[in-house]
This record gives sequence, structure tokens and C-alpha cells, in this order.
Amino acid sequence: MSFELIKGAEDSNRSANPALDEVSDPARRQVIRGSLGTALAAVFGPLAALAQSGCAAGGRGSSLLGFKGIPATAADGLVVPEGYRAEVLFRWGDPVGIAGDMPAFRSDASNSAAEQAVQAGMHHDGMHFYPLPAGGGRERALLVMNHEYTDEGLLHPDGYRDWTADKVAKSQAAHGVSVIEIERADGAWQVVRPSPYARRITAATPTTVSGPAAGHRLLATAADPAGTRVLGTFNNCASGRTPWGTYLTCEENFAFYFHAPDQVDAHQRRWGLADKRRALFPWGDHDPRFDARRHPNEFNRFGWVVEIDPFDPSATPIKRTALGRAAREGATTVLTRDGRAVVYMGEDARFEYIYKFVSRDAMRPGGFAANRGLLDHGTLYVARFDAGGRGVWLPLVHGANGLTAGNGFADQGEVAVKARQASDRLGGTRMDRPEWIVVDPFSGEVYCTLTNNALRGQGGQPAADPANPRNNNTMGQIIRWKEHGDFDATTFAWNHLVLAGDPQNARAEARGNIRGDIFACPDGLSFDARGVLWVQTDAHASQMYKGEFERIGNNQMLACDVATGEMRRFLTGPVNCEVTGAVSTPDCRTLFVNIQHPGETPSDRSDPANPMRFSRWPDGAGRPRSATVAIRRIDGGIVGT
Ligand code: FEO
Ligand code: CA
Ligand code: CA
Ligand code: CA
Repeated sequence: MSFELIKGAEDSNRSANPALDEVSDPARRQVIRGSLGTALAAVFGPLAALAQSGCAAGGRGSSLLGFKGIPATAADGLVVPEGYRAEVLFRWGDPVGIAGDMPAFRSDASNSAAEQAVQAGMHHDGMHFYPLPAGGGRERALLVMNHEYTDEGLLHPDGYRDWTADKVAKSQAAHGVSVIEIERADGAWQVVRPSPYARRITAATPTTVSGPAAGHRLLATAADPAGTRVLGTFNNCASGRTPWGTYLTCEENFAFYFHAPDQVDAHQRRWGLADKRRALFPWGDHDPRFDARRHPNEFNRFGWVVEIDPFDPSATPIKRTALGRAAREGATTVLTRDGRAVVYMGEDARFEYIYKFVSRDAMRPGGFAANRGLLDHGTLYVARFDAGGRGVWLPLVHGANGLTAGNGFADQGEVAVKARQASDRLGGTRMDRPEWIVVDPFSGEVYCTLTNNALRGQGGQPAADPANPRNNNTMGQIIRWKEHGDFDATTFAWNHLVLAGDPQNARAEARGNIRGDIFACPDGLSFDARGVLWVQTDAHASQMYKGEFERIGNNQMLACDVATGEMRRFLTGPVNCEVTGAVSTPDCRTLFVNIQHPGETPSDRSDPANPMRFSRWPDGAGRPRSATVAIRRIDGGIVGT
């Protein structure tokens, strides 16, 4: 999410971590030489399976990108290369397919909260693909996706005005996660309705809490004195698919949903509960748990990774507190050679951190049933990116390195709830808004988008450092690292894949060093099984089409060959949309992509009297709608070749 910045809410890191002043050489593009120089595909469990699936037999090919790149555009439509077709599959308001409860979307936004709770939520984001056994000549799968947030101007007939309990309930129902069953028959993917798997998880769905903060005094509320059961998840951004078959969703800008007390304490301030009387989403007007003046600990019950079993619609989602609390973008899991889970995570806020979690135990065969506790025990680390392309993982362990009761960390549960304060104390590197993280299935290198940070070096804020090398960074960059050894290593080597920008910009910091098609504000990332890195962008409507962004056009998706750094534009979205959520089928013949908030307004709130002011996509009438699209080559070939 890239709301217009609320001062003190989303840039709340006032810690004095040492700023590094050496700027990395942007020309350095070679693959990082870690201590593991050999191909890793044979080593890293599920990554190996990905790399060796149908379309990648024999390893990464020498010529990855074969399609004809497309130009930048400011037109209102979705464009893919010659020889490709993109079909809309699942729009905001489409029923998910729960038997007996499949209300049609009403284009005047008059669906009720109860109807919205069984329809696709708004603002599709991170997404993963879970194959089901094929049957009757049909490919089948589950698609699981986040609905990050809402444009209340589109959600209600009267928009943002005159909040009622019903409007709050509808807003909460439009957040969360969808599980849908899809099948491909007669060439096209479609949603299976009804399906026994169909499910919505919303901001009101019961969840349980596990790990060191479960039952903690900081999570206890009047409605849940035990601190173990929380209603709902929201602001779910990127996501993850675990090797044991579950879906990880993350709670990003949760601070925007709470009414703040008149006087915030240091903890609330550090977590962005700024001195403001009204939240961006005024749920607290009608749902008192979102009023931190009355229920201060409810705020601590969000900011977690939530594990969902997509194959069991009755399974209760679990908030995994061992992974720490963060305004987190996503959670990407790989396995060490001995089978322990390593989860990479970034916190998308200005000057926040990159984390990894290493599980204590190894994954066991048997899917989720055999691995229910795997993410409850392990070690959480924060990243420090040092000069010279070296880095260190700093453990956030109670009792060590000053994380003691005397310093405000009574136990590991408090370290988890206050992961930002713990990272401040240890001296993690304050990054330019870490978004998605993915792992190269062939090299084991880890890639992270740092989407932008216009406050870098401004007004007393931290200046450029080696990993975040540009002040007033409007364009963003992609950083990558390679662990010194297995994924549980505590040191690593790093460099930048690319600094985004337009080489024709006057300001040096906005030019970048792209080899190929220009873009700004990288956000979504996905490796397909051939080793193509798909890069998706999220420049905000308030910036696009003018100044430094004039030639960059609509948000887009590019294919990158990470060995050469070449970026080739594959898709452009409709006006003011974000392009996100790429996931490829194992055979590389379908690429699913989410188009988020077509027609986004500079204020993030549409005018209900003029909902199509900026975009008419995809229906051309009614309201613009976030949607999942399925992209295939017309000849059925491998996407990207
Ligand atoms: Fe939800 Fe960081 O984008
Ligand atoms: Ca967005
Ligand atoms: Ca973003
Ligand atoms: Ca994002």
C-alpha cells in the first residue's frame, strides 16, 4: 500500500542507528560470489522442485526472454505482448463460490456487508497457486489471494461520508483473503462455483495466536483476557506459500485502522499510532476494539504473519508471533539443507527493517498436519547491510544484546511485540521501504524490492547509505544477497540488481541504471520455474504521468534475466492501477497477475459521484474493479519465451 504519507505514522523510526556513508557502485551487476559457488538447485528442497519442474528441466536457459517488449503507455487498458492473451478471472465483488451463497456484484456498490463477506474483497494483492489433482481433462487448482485495503469511495454508494455500523462491517468484509477453486477447460481458466474450498477470511474472522506472544499481557483485551484469540486480519499485502502447503498472509499498515489516544506513549508512537484523532479507516467509530483510547492492546494484536490452510475451509488462521511483529509486506519461506524453515520478511515503511526467521525444527513429511508448530520455535534476525557488500543477521533473542527486562523487554513475547524497538537497539539497517522478497530457484540468491523513500536524506532523516544509496529516493531499487553458506547463515554478501528511474531525468538520483525498459517503484516480485524474475510496480497516483514519472507511464510488469540485468516490459496496467501478485503455474504456461486499484485517485478515495474519473477497467461501466487476470500465450507455449 502506498498511501500518501502520514507524518509520524508510517515513518516512525527515530532511532539513531549508525548511517553508513559509502555508496555502492551501481555499475556492479555481476552475480554475487558467495562462499557457495555451486548451483544450488539440487540442494534447497522446494526450490529444487520448482527449478526442476516441467519448463525448466536441465537448468536455467541461456536465452530467457523471447517476447517482444511493449511500450510504456498512459492509456486505460491492460496490454500484453503480441501473441499473448490476458483474460479477467476474478474481480472485486465476484462471488467466491460458497454453495448457496453466491450473490451477484452490484455495480452501484449496493451489496450488503453480508454479501461482500462471500464475494471477492477489494484491492487484490499477493497471491499463490496450489495445484489440485487434475480430473476429467481439466487442470484444477486453488488460488489464494489477499485483498489489501479498500477505497471507501467505491465500496459504498455514498462513499466515505456518514459512517454507520453497516458500512464498517462492509469495509471489514472487503478486507482479508479469498480462497477460490479454479479450473482450465476449453483453453481458459475459470472460477469453479460452487466449490467446497471457497472461502473468505475477513477483518472479523476468528483467528488464534501462537508463539511467544500468545497469551502475553500485551495482547490481553477486555474481550479476550487470555490474549489468544483475535478477530480477523487486514491490510494483507504480499504473501507466502510454505513448502508444507500453507499460505502466509501479512498485516501491513495496521496502524491506519486505529483511533489514537490524545497522548500516545513511546511504544505506540514507534508503531505509527500518531497523534491523530481519526484513523484513515474510522472503524473505531462503530467497532470499539479499533479505538486505542479504549482498548490499547488491540493494536498489538495486528502486525503478524498469519498461517492459513487453504485446503481446509474450516481451519482457524493462526497468528505466528515467533516471526515478530512488523508492518510487514510478505513472508517467503525456503528450507535449509537439513529441512529447517527460513522465512524472509520486509517491513514496508520508510526506514524500517528486513528480517529473517530460522525455525528450530526441520519440516516433516505430511503437509500442514505434520508441521503445525514449525513456525512457533526458532530465531528471529534483523539485517544489517554493511559497506563493501557485506551483511550480518542480528538475533532478536531475549536476554542477549541488551534485550533485557531492564531495557523494556520482559521476555521473548515482548521482543516479538516490540520487534522494531529491538531492531533499533541492535542496529539493523533502516531501509527504503522493503516490499516483496523472493529466492532465485537456481542460485539461492534472495531479492528484495525497496520501493522508494523520498524522505531519505531530507529534513534530518537518515542519509543515503550503501544499501539505500540515493537521497530523495523517488524511484526505488532492487537489492539482493547471498548467504555465506546455507540459508541459516548469519553473514551474507549483497549488491543491487538495479536502481530504478528514467535516464532522461534531470536529477541524478532519479535516473537509475536500468538495462532495458524503464520503470519506477518496484514492488511485487516472483521467480517462475525457468528463473525469470517478474518485477511489478506501484508508483502512486499522486506522482504518475508528470515530472520524473512522465515517461514511465502506467504501472507495469517486466521480465528480468538476473544474469544480465536485462529488464523487458511485458505488461502495462490500466490508469492508476498497481500491478501485483504474479504467480506462474508450475508448467510456466499461465501467469496469474493481480491488477490493484485501477483508477486510484491521488487522495486514495474515489468520488462516489464520479467513480470512473480515472479508469473504467475492466467492465467499462459502473466502477473500476481490482481483478485477477490469467495470461497465456495464444499458442499455449511457455510464457516469456
Ligand atoms: Fe502493501 Fe507495501 O505494499
Ligand atoms: Ca497499491
Ligand atoms: Ca507498494
Ligand atoms: Ca506491495
